[in-house]
Amino acid sequence: MRNILIGITAAVSLSVIVPAVNAEEAAPLSLAATTPITSAEVTGSVPQKLNVSKANVFNRLLKKIKDPNAAPPDDGIHDRANDAVFALQPPKVAYEGLPTTTFGNHVDWVKALDDGLLNPRYDRVDPDVEPFIMDLDIVRPVKASVPDVVFPHKPHTQWLHCSNCHPKIFIPQRLANTISMSAIILGQKCGVCHGKVSFPPETTSCKKCHSKPKPADWKPPLSQATVKNPWR
Ligand code: HEC
Ligand code: HEC
Ligand code: HEC
Repeated sequence: MRNILIGITAAVSLSVIVPAVNAEEAAPLSLAATTPITSAEVTGSVPQKLNVSKANVFNRLLKKIKDPNAAPPDDGIHDRANDAVFALQPPKVAYEGLPTTTFGNHVDWVKALDDGLLNPRYDRVDPDVEPFIMDLDIVRPVKASVPDVVFPHKPHTQWLHCSNCHPKIFIPQRLANTISMSAIILGQKCGVCHGKVSFPPETTSCKKCHSKPKPADWKPPLSQATVKNPWR
């Protein structure tokens, strides 16, 4: 699984960064670049900003996080030199007793909410506003051999407002949106949240989204090259 995924990630970065350059030259750039590179630097052509770094910084698949719930002074985000960070509550203390997972920050937030362990406020100002929960599953058949994707509205609308997704991220119509794993890993579509504020695509989290087994008679779609191959 991990190999497949790294394959996907590398392919994504390559096509985004330097389509004109071969793979060996392009790969280290995609992994190491911290400042945006211009295509002119690579190909000598007209300068064009390509924001490679932005996508990769968020991409948790590229670097293995040693401790996803390190205390604020040790998490690499906060400034250790500032005494105030030692006053912040460490995540491990806050997450004590919550149901766990094997990915992301290792908390099963959906289950925690269903078990009544959390009571998030739906409105910042008014504590009495009730969430508008919609229980509607959207099945997205996937061409690849991975299980199909089920997008459940319920666990989303327990935390989020319709306008968090509609219409800016998704047109509210089944299959009206083009979604791909590449887009998600680059922080678009589902990746606007998954990989940032919600569980990331990791080896053990695939089946959270890819949860519907393929129909028994499913066959991989043949490419035009295969269909038209005179030697078949
Ligand atoms: C986390 C993002 C998210 C939130 C929040 C969200 N939706 Fe959706 N919604 C989606 C996605 C994804 C689809 C499927 C789009 C596709 O298949 O191309 C969808 C589809 C729909 C559809 C089309 C259903 C169909 O059968 O064609 C409607 C209607 C809809 N949403 C209404 C709502 C309403 C009302 C709310 C708030 C109660 C809401 N959505 C909240 C992501 C969201
Ligand atoms: C606006 C932010 C946002 C977007 C966009 C979004 N999600 Fe989520 N998603 C969440 C949050 C928040 C949760 C609940 C907390 C968690 O599980 O991390 C969640 C939970 C889920 C769950 C429930 C997992 C469970 O434990 O039952 C699935 C499945 C899921 N998302 C799939 C998707 C898919 C597929 C898409 C894209 C079509 C998508 N999400 C887009 C924010 C988002
Ligand atoms: C946040 C939800 C989510 C997670 C987590 C997730 N996927 Fe996906 N995946 C999707 C969606 C949505 C699509 C697009 C489905 C479609 O065609 O509409 C997709 C598509 C794919 C495809 C088809 C090719 C493509 O890019 O469209 C493959 C292969 C795939 N995923 C593999 C994986 C693997 C492997 C993992 C785990 C490392 C994973 N996915 C985790 C939501 C997810």
